[in-house]
Amino acid sequence: MTSFQIRPATSEDARFLADMLVEAANWSHLHTRSRVAVLEDPHISHYIAGWKRPGDFGSVAVDAHGIAIGGCWGRLFPANAPGHGFVAVGVPELTLGVNTQWRALGVGRALLQAVGQQAKAAGHSRLSLSVERANFAQRLYVSEGFITVESGTGSDTMVRAVR
Ligand SMILES: CC(C)(COP(=O)(O)OP(=O)(O)OC[C@H]1O[C@@H](n2cnc3c(N)ncnc32)[C@H](O)[C@@H]1OP(=O)(O)O)[C@@H](O)C(=O)NCCC(=O)NCCS
Repeated sequence: MTSFQIRPATSEDARFLADMLVEAANWSHLHTRSRVAVLEDPHISHYIAGWKRPGDFGSVAVDAHGIAIGGCWGRLFPANAPGHGFVAVGVPELTLGVNTQWRALGVGRALLQAVGQQAKAAGHSRLSLSVERANFAQRLYVSEGFITVESGTGSDTMVRAVR
């Protein structure tokens, strides 16, 4: 069964989105921190802490039974407590993750596109994210219109215009 649907993320999705944040942090088999360790890291937990707060928006992919299988969301950060992909106040930073058994089936791309529509509806003009250069996800982002605006050690900050 490979059919899935996309719905808006709600406050009820906090735990699942935290799971997806852990997937994003542990994107490679070389990254194997426990869920607790990832979520206790303030540089990571601030992507989901307090979900869903004003300004947060996102989408969840669900399987044919309504079970969540992937999530993507945007959050605004202040300049004095930025995310890894911070580019400016008012530019939401995205997080994306898909359950292992649902990868390479188009879920990630569908989520990115859905969140792009949500960003447009919310009046945002740009979206940003941070991705490690070795992660094939970067090619997905490029194909969805993101361009690298800053290169750090091993990771890039990418931005795309919301149209
Ligand atoms: C990155 C991730 C979100 C992509 O989601 P996905 O549902 O697997 O991706 P899709 O099926 O939509 O595929 C998107 C593109 O990536 C390609 N792709 C998918 N899996 C791939 C793999 N293992 N290796 C190389 N390319 C791959 C696909 O071919 C597709 O390109 P195409 O449409 O031209 O064929 C997902 O793999 C994931 O959760 N990874 C771990 C968490 C992570 O890395 N998050 C991002 C952190 S910045």
